[in-house]
Amino acid sequence: MLINSTQSRDDVLQSVYRELKRAGTDTHHAFRFFTFATAGSGHGDPRVRMVVLRSFEPDWHFEFYTDARSAKIEELRRHPVSESLFWNPSRRVQLRVSAASSVHHDDELSNKRWHHVQCDNQKAYASPISPGQPIADPSDAHSWPEHIDARHFAVVRSRPYAIKVLQISGLKHLALEYSRDDVTGEWTGSWIAP
Ligand SMILES: Cc1cc2nc3c(=O)[nH]c(=O)nc-3n(C[C@H](O)[C@H](O)[C@H](O)COP(=O)(O)O)c2cc1C
Repeated sequence: MLINSTQSRDDVLQSVYRELKRAGTDTHHAFRFFTFATAGSGHGDPRVRMVVLRSFEPDWHFEFYTDARSAKIEELRRHPVSESLFWNPSRRVQLRVSAASSVHHDDELSNKRWHHVQCDNQKAYASPISPGQPIADPSDAHSWPEHIDARHFAVVRSRPYAIKVLQISGLKHLALEYSRDDVTGEWTGSWIAP
């Protein structure tokens, strides 16, 4: 359990914050991998995929890295909002985080982050073939240029504006909903029926 019914809403929010902060640095934390949903281009159908939490900051901004040519980037450019789903199976807690998400590509932030991507991991963002492009053979996508650079590397940075917390607990599940004031950054929350 991460939360219980005797906690205040502020305490619950602090617990959520601490877990996300840990996941930003601990590669083994259950929140390290999360599902990131966008509105697809075209009719705006939902699109989801797993990503890796690369940082979680004191002001609640969080980031993942990606290939600037991937579909999610085009989707975010059209519709810069997302929903992220985190699940911790041992604590049996789910977080649903709605956020404004921006794409950083070939700018100061992405260049700064690129220098923290370990040498071999840079290959994940440097294939000569764009993600999603049809190929004749799987191995076609497994070769890289001799000199790898940041031209396709992008950072997706999300600013949460709403969070739903669900604690699974026998038959007595607990749920809370928080929203954030755009100007002050203050969170307000209430218990809701799970
Ligand atoms: C465990 C796991 C972690 C992943 N992490 C990332 C990631 O951090 N960034 C990323 O772009 N894709 C990541 N992927 C791949 C994406 O889920 C997705 O397949 C890919 O980015 C293409 O997505 P798109 O076509 O919707 O843009 C991960 C996949 C798995 C299974």
